[in-house]
Amino acid sequence: MRTPLLAGNWKMNKTHLEAIHFVEQLGHELGAHDPRKVEVVLCPPATALRSVQTTLDDRHQTFGLGAQNMHFEDSGAFTGEVSPLMLTALHVKYVILGHSERRQMFGDTNETVNQKVRAAFAHGLVPIMCCGETDMERTNEHTEARVEGQVREGLAGLTEAQAGQVVVAYEPIWAIGTGKTATPEDAQTTISFIRGVLTDLFSDDVAGGIRILYGGSMKAGNAASLVRQTDIDGGLIGGASLDAGEFAAMVKAVAGES
Ligand code: PGA
Repeated sequence: MRTPLLAGNWKMNKTHLEAIHFVEQLGHELGAHDPRKVEVVLCPPATALRSVQTTLDDRHQTFGLGAQNMHFEDSGAFTGEVSPLMLTALHVKYVILGHSERRQMFGDTNETVNQKVRAAFAHGLVPIMCCGETDMERTNEHTEARVEGQVREGLAGLTEAQAGQVVVAYEPIWAIGTGKTATPEDAQTTISFIRGVLTDLFSDDVAGGIRILYGGSMKAGNAASLVRQTDIDGGLIGGASLDAGEFAAMVKAVAGES
């Protein structure tokens, strides 16, 4: 049984004070939230991780904490980077790796994503590894080839035990921040293809337990119909995760409470 996961990717938004305010508001909106129904993870920018961590530890333990990126080395001369050790010291559990914005603007490749995925496991962090095709690749029917390469190379070298924990996020680039969402049926088709690739890489059992999220203009109004699909186990949410009311409505919709 795969527990649905909704991860809010705040990208470069919210100061640490705004982040604390958001967590308090979300806690208020959701009340006695049951993480066994829907796991909620917040991925603030690095500058707000510490503030969100103390707020979660003090009052909102049912929400998980994630980072948006990290370097694969423990320490060293890497100006501007954050290491896995620094994240685990902040009780961070998840780390988004290989987001398309990192791949397009900051030079992440399948190879560096794989180094980061393996470093995450070496430190007990759970990677949310992203994959997805561009609009052009979609038009040229290259979606499957693109995501298969990203999944195979990004997850290369994992043990079955590690693979059993990984989270994969399928985010068609043309749907990110555009208001265009893949239809639940189209997202299901690609995500079921990804599960097939995972079955080929690992065992049936392991692949059947891996959570695969959809990302790209997901909001309270379309989340439930996406997550209702057989292979879609939640979402990686950008824009709609910045508003506590909207994000709470999404959690309730996926939990079947609205
Ligand atoms: P979006 O972003 O929900 O704003 O489309 C999703 C993401 O980039 O993770």
